Amino acid sequence: MPSNFVANGAEAYEASMGRWSRRLATPFLEFAGVPSRGRVLDAGCGTGSLALALAAHPELEAIEALDFEESFVAALEWRATDTRIEARQGDVCALPYENETFDGVYSLLVLHFVSDAHRAVQEMRRVLRPRAAAAAAVWAWGGMPSWRLFWDVVLAIEPEAAGNGVPTARRPLTEEGELRSVFEAAGFTGLADTKLTIVMDYTSFDDFWYPTVYGQGAFAAFFDALPEARRVRLRDAVRAAYLADGPDGPRGFLSFAWAVRGTA
Ligand SMILES: C[S@@+](CC[C@H](N)C(=O)[O-])C[C@H]1O[C@@H](n2cnc3c(N)ncnc32)[C@H](O)[C@@H]1O
Repeated sequence: MPSNFVANGAEAYEASMGRWSRRLATPFLEFAGVPSRGRVLDAGCGTGSLALALAAHPELEAIEALDFEESFVAALEWRATDTRIEARQGDVCALPYENETFDGVYSLLVLHFVSDAHRAVQEMRRVLRPRAAAAAAVWAWGGMPSWRLFWDVVLAIEPEAAGNGVPTARRPLTEEGELRSVFEAAGFTGLADTKLTIVMDYTSFDDFWYPTVYGQGAFAAFFDALPEARRVRLRDAVRAAYLADGPDGPRGFLSFAWAVRGTA
């Protein structure tokens, strides 16, 4: 199984994560750099946050996008009006492209879900033209306080959720320097890494609750199976943590990701 990502449909992804990866795509591309011409790849495109941000660069001739989840690929095909975007289903550990065919390769919030990230990064290097650059980013461990707030309350109220929908173990590559090491091991040179920050801001508790509770594949299944009374108890506890004694309304959470770039 090359992917450890639990998908729950493109719409749920958009509501829970696509809204943030769209926001992260801007500082990510500023850090990564975009070539002044040619063909680029969004490896692990999801519903297309990065591919669509790349399409804002008129100098690019082709934007390939690939993801393991067929429903995400279909969502991107539906959203993309730019004919330079070509989406397909595939595995980042076995990229279906010839050697040395891309002028830039990007992977946004993917490598911590891939069962063999080393292989994936080697593949990213293989398909790059000599001296072209690749870049990747993953959410930092502890870098998503709004999601941590949610999971911590879930674990306090429903301890059996651990391993049954609630992520408790740290994902690989989410500590500082780990992503850089994988790029180094794959033979990339001229490495640079950084911390990217965005604010995850919600307009109200409902804006926080609904996408979170229905967007998470494994957790949504766990939550749906709870008796009504426990669902209500959980919702009330998460609401109290979100509100933190204040009135319902907007809250913002500074969130960060590790990013690396290197040259083939
Ligand atoms: C958190 S999402 C990020 C998606 C998108 N890059 C974004 O920023 O919105 C992680 C994505 O990695 C994809 N993925 C995980 N393992 C993969 C693999 N081996 N090959 C291709 N895609 C993979 C998942 O299907 C999912 O779409």
